[in-house]
Amino acid sequence: MDLRLDGPPGRTARAVQGPPCAMVIFGSSGDLTKRLLIPALYNLAKAGRLSDKFALIGVDRTDRSHEEFRAYLAEGVRSFVSDTGTGPVTAPFDARAWEFLAARMTHLKGDVTDPEMYDRLAQALKEAESEHGTAGNVVFYLAVAASLFGPVVERLAAAGLTREENQHWRRVIIEKPFGHDLESARALDARLAKVLSEDQIYRMDHFLGKETVQNIMVLRFANGIFEPLWNRDHIDHVQITVAETVGVERRAGFYEETGALRDMVPNHVFQLLSLTAMEPPNSFAADAVRTEKDKVLEAVIPLDDNDVRRNVVRGQYTAGVVRGQPVKAYREEEGVAPDSMTETYVALRLGIDNWRWAGVPFYMRTGKALTRRTTEIAIQFKQVPFALFRDTPVETLTPNVLVMQIQPDEGISLQFGAKRPGPDIHLGAVRMDFRYRDYFNTDPSTGYETLVYDCMIGDPILFQRADSVEAGWAVGAAAVARRPPMAPDRLT
Ligand code: BG6
Repeated sequence: MDLRLDGPPGRTARAVQGPPCAMVIFGSSGDLTKRLLIPALYNLAKAGRLSDKFALIGVDRTDRSHEEFRAYLAEGVRSFVSDTGTGPVTAPFDARAWEFLAARMTHLKGDVTDPEMYDRLAQALKEAESEHGTAGNVVFYLAVAASLFGPVVERLAAAGLTREENQHWRRVIIEKPFGHDLESARALDARLAKVLSEDQIYRMDHFLGKETVQNIMVLRFANGIFEPLWNRDHIDHVQITVAETVGVERRAGFYEETGALRDMVPNHVFQLLSLTAMEPPNSFAADAVRTEKDKVLEAVIPLDDNDVRRNVVRGQYTAGVVRGQPVKAYREEEGVAPDSMTETYVALRLGIDNWRWAGVPFYMRTGKALTRRTTEIAIQFKQVPFALFRDTPVETLTPNVLVMQIQPDEGISLQFGAKRPGPDIHLGAVRMDFRYRDYFNTDPSTGYETLVYDCMIGDPILFQRADSVEAGWAVGAAAVARRPPMAPDRLT
């Protein structure tokens, strides 16, 4: 994460080129690679952030020539620049950036469970080093099923590919889900720790790549006006919402086993929680920030059986209409059991047992096939005393609410009370709105650019440490295991 204070808005920061390196993507024909990783690399190339000495090797089982591989990925970039899915932001296709990237891309056909493939990969990496000057540095990106994380890393190590010597580095990016509960996350960590050092492991939570998520820290710690109010004396409660309009799509196999709670809460939602509630770190050094974030999760009050019944509710979408389109019931989706009890919606109330937050409820909710797509954090401040308005027609006072809108339509708004014009004292809630797109002239981004670039430059600040993943599971999975009640109502 490149922290700099720029001049006037709109001025683009000078690009700092990443170091020479190769990137190996396991699962290079998957959706993630096509929709997000390659567009992110294209954006990095466009911004001048990829080294000239960069090479990309895509590994998967499909039979494709290098040329076919490039053509397949070019489609992903073209549709990304014309449709970011988040609104009207589009950008012209930059042929030079694409050529830069395409010239450095090759495909390696292989099965990631086959040890022989790793010998061929070693050979391909040597060729990339002599052809492009990658200096022996490699980012291995595991865009594969979670069950393959352990086996792939072990085979890389057995082939000597994770060894750091002659001043080159080897790093591994691991996508979520990192385990499916506390025990499995610990087991995966133990497995990785046998062959990798902690500083070679980059545990990805893609929410941390979102600009507005990174902005939470800046809003809190680079502005003098918020932090004095950011505590139990002034804040009534906090609401974190991650609402999606999409249903389970083609992921029923994964989702049936996972559900909304495991899929979203211990990772994405808790990242938002910890950035919102953390103490100011001593610096922006990765460990200083990650330590403060972890402390928040450690202070979340664990839920016992009774607490779960009172503070957690699950739901499942039934048939309905979302954004004017008919939506099937979850149980009618392909691959979902007709009597499935997997939740597609979950809401929780949690408390944080520390000096700053004691007694302040944190409400969190997330779900699929909801009527509106929004990810936001709303900080509701305490009411002022009513005394002053006692003898006026004012019956209620609107609370001050600070909303950090993470997506779509990224921005920040502050609600406060204002007097309605006229001879009587009538109050209304008004909003001061800041929208990123009005102020900064940015190209569409996938949210993976910063994360991939940070891994290349060796900055783990936006990646999760083992203890933070485990702290997330400790609270989140405990809630899952206790089977929170299912809401009887329709939740579309
Ligand atoms: C993923 C979840 O991690 O995040 C998905 O597995 C979810 O179920 C997605 O849809 C949401 O991410 P974004 O960036 O689209 O908000």
